[in-house]
Amino acid sequence: MKTILTGIRVNSELTLGNFLGALLPMTRLANKYSDEYNINIFVADLHTIIAEQDGGLQHNLLMLIKMYLAAGLKVNDNVHIYRQSYVPATSEMTWILNCVATMGELGRMIQYKEKGRGEDSCNVGIFDYPVLMATDILLFDGNYIPVGQDQFQHIELTRDIAIRVNHRYGEIFTVPEKTSEQAKFMGSNDGIRIRDLVNPEKKMSKSAKAENSKIMMTDDPEKVAKKIMSATTDSLGEIDFDLKKRPGISNLLQIEALVNDRPLDEVVAEWKGKSNYGDLKKKVAESVSTMLADFQARLAKITDEEVYELMETGEKYANKLANAKLLKLQKAFELR
Ligand code: TRP
Repeated sequence: MKTILTGIRVNSELTLGNFLGALLPMTRLANKYSDEYNINIFVADLHTIIAEQDGGLQHNLLMLIKMYLAAGLKVNDNVHIYRQSYVPATSEMTWILNCVATMGELGRMIQYKEKGRGEDSCNVGIFDYPVLMATDILLFDGNYIPVGQDQFQHIELTRDIAIRVNHRYGEIFTVPEKTSEQAKFMGSNDGIRIRDLVNPEKKMSKSAKAENSKIMMTDDPEKVAKKIMSATTDSLGEIDFDLKKRPGISNLLQIEALVNDRPLDEVVAEWKGKSNYGDLKKKVAESVSTMLADFQARLAKITDEEVYELMETGEKYANKLANAKLLKLQKAFELR
């Protein structure tokens, strides 16, 4: 059975953008494929600590898993949820792969370039981040790795590392699919960027100052409806989808499609040419506030115990596989 695998960094609070752009598509993908694929969804807690957290790592971690469950993730025997740091082979294998990856490769990673290259205060974890990620994938023979475009470079690196190791030591790793194949597999869910409601040229961000700019998943549904009613659009007078020229109205159409799990084309066709922006806003406000109310009700019912049990089961499974893979690599390097 092939494996779909993804790691999620712990985040202090989720915006509607994070939810619709990442968490919900991953949940739908997992539900769609969990009869034919292994689905590994893990909390990348070791990746998380490259920067300080606000709100407390453990609390945020529990919340993150609860949000997947509240989003409708169905857990069967093929779905594995675990914490990265509870699979110690991860750290060991990362060291070995550090002796395979090169300074040149890691120095070219965009994330590193943006987050601290050349600064003495940049922690080594930021530099080594992609090797840890390669380990996450290679430990479990991951084939499909649903991630945002910003992570594609890390998947290419993972492939290079796997190919290099296999070339030197024989078939140890499964080489994940090329990023072009990854994108096909994810379909239209890839690259969704929900916009700031006030400044729709920008991505929706939890750090936006204006309250009306962003929707948090824990916001009161009625307040959210008001925020959507006051969203910035344009004065062209006719609804149409054009993210570059008309980001505000396009953002609303996109939200409407995602929340209702409908193809964007279909939603656009339904509204195109109409002149009453208020009707569209009303419809989107209703869709989002209903979705949020349901989501929050489900979220409130999920207990910590339930989440711990799920993770512990996942970790038993993950450690067994990971230890076997690590041993193979250790033998190749004559460490065993
Ligand atoms: N680096 C990913 C991100 O920032 C998270 C991540 C860590 C990951 N390990 C992974 C994603 C392995 C996919 C596979 O979003």
